[in-house]
Amino acid sequence: MAMNKPQFICRECGITQSKWAGQCDKCGAWNTLIEQHTNERSPKGLTKGKGQKIEFVGLKGSEKKTYRIPTGITEFDRVCGGGLVPGATLLVGGDPGIGKSTLLLQVAAAFATKDRTARSIYISGEEAIDQVRLRARRLGLSDTTVELATATNVRDISTTLESTQNAQVVVADSIQTLYVDNLDSAPGSVAQVRASAQELIHLAKRKGFTLFLISHITKEGMIAGPKILEHMVDTVLYFEGERGHKFRILRAVKNRFGAVDENGIFEMMDIGLAEVLNPSAIFLSDRGREISGSCVFAGNEGSRPMLLEIQALTAPTSFGTPRRAVVGWDTGRLNMILAVFEARCDLSFSTQDVYLNVAGGLRITEPAADLAVAAALVSSLSNVPFLHDAIIFGEIGLSGEIRAVSRYESRLKEAEKLGFARAITPRLPDNDGSRNSATSIEKGIKVIELSTLNELLDLLSPKPSISNLQTVDEQL
Ligand code: TYD
Ligand code: MG
Repeated sequence: MAMNKPQFICRECGITQSKWAGQCDKCGAWNTLIEQHTNERSPKGLTKGKGQKIEFVGLKGSEKKTYRIPTGITEFDRVCGGGLVPGATLLVGGDPGIGKSTLLLQVAAAFATKDRTARSIYISGEEAIDQVRLRARRLGLSDTTVELATATNVRDISTTLESTQNAQVVVADSIQTLYVDNLDSAPGSVAQVRASAQELIHLAKRKGFTLFLISHITKEGMIAGPKILEHMVDTVLYFEGERGHKFRILRAVKNRFGAVDENGIFEMMDIGLAEVLNPSAIFLSDRGREISGSCVFAGNEGSRPMLLEIQALTAPTSFGTPRRAVVGWDTGRLNMILAVFEARCDLSFSTQDVYLNVAGGLRITEPAADLAVAAALVSSLSNVPFLHDAIIFGEIGLSGEIRAVSRYESRLKEAEKLGFARAITPRLPDNDGSRNSATSIEKGIKVIELSTLNELLDLLSPKPSISNLQTVDEQL
């Protein structure tokens, strides 16, 4: 007996509820529940009739080695865990206009150039053929063998792909424009996005091509964002960047075939996205000479170390409540550091507006940047430039202690490679293996270890005159 029963689906998180409510029970978003009619085959959802018997196996056994095909775009391959896995589906999410279509057209073209026997297909539901061709010309890719089509009906797409031999890469741009014709809801709704993705994912598995689904991130509006697809696909990549900056970062947030904290850095140029193979050098290239409020953070993004300039500016506030403006970092984390300064070091920023910026337009998520932010703040407040030849990293705890962070050694190595002479780091316990290996390997860089935030102030404080810094210099 078929029954038509309404359900309410949240377009933010995709959860299903039986009753409408103003706020989603799971994700807390307001006004995101939409009514969907579903055809239930059995009133209580119970399956009738006998199914097939399934077989159980042990945990030990020989598994098939994952076969990967590199695209030739190093930054992209690293994020994917080494290359494309046949039959896998990758979701590429990002704000409109960030460069998703550009990136995927370049990936499809790189693939087509590498292997001329394999077919690389780009299906656009957003742009007309002419627009995509124009972009291809701009990117210098017109002569590649990428096959282009515009389509939005999933039935047409799957019929075509079903009879296409040798397809290795298929890009669907974007999932929000596709629809299956046996559902009533509009393209971009939760039900349509799910059903379209499901059909294409099954097809990719059966036919063995790698499927890319491009998806817009949406905060509000009627279209469903990539969140509701995350559990259905093998890999989720987010393409991010600050508007107005040329750098873009591709992050893996889920990967069934590789590490999740990997990232790739690109630069948006007139002729498309260029790989940034040595990000530290590029990010530091605009760094001025000794100015107060600036320091170099030895960060670590995924498997690779990255040096970034952190800039802070403090200025007397003209209003009752001081301003805290942050670009590229977490405002909550900045407030925490300011509170630790006040409570543990007797250093107050309550009469100061604080502006913090990660140069280059990248976003840092690591707590290891705490110490670099603290150093930039102190340097700006005291108007004394931070040690120009030093890098700094470490996490700050609420009692003002400096805590150890991961990948100590690779951060130091990167700093040494870029010509830094000193490193300000957390103090590691004497029995810590990473410290011993780090200090023995990094002979070219001098390490100043700190265990509390007060020690940082002693190191940078201009109060007992600049001689304090000189003493440190001399000590080294
Ligand atoms: P696009 O790939 O269309 O973004 P998305 O698919 O994520 O919406 O890229 C849009 C922006 O990129 C657009 O504002 C123009 C810029 N752009 C360049 O700067 N250089 C280029 O070579 C290309 C193709 C685009
Ligand atoms: Mg696009």
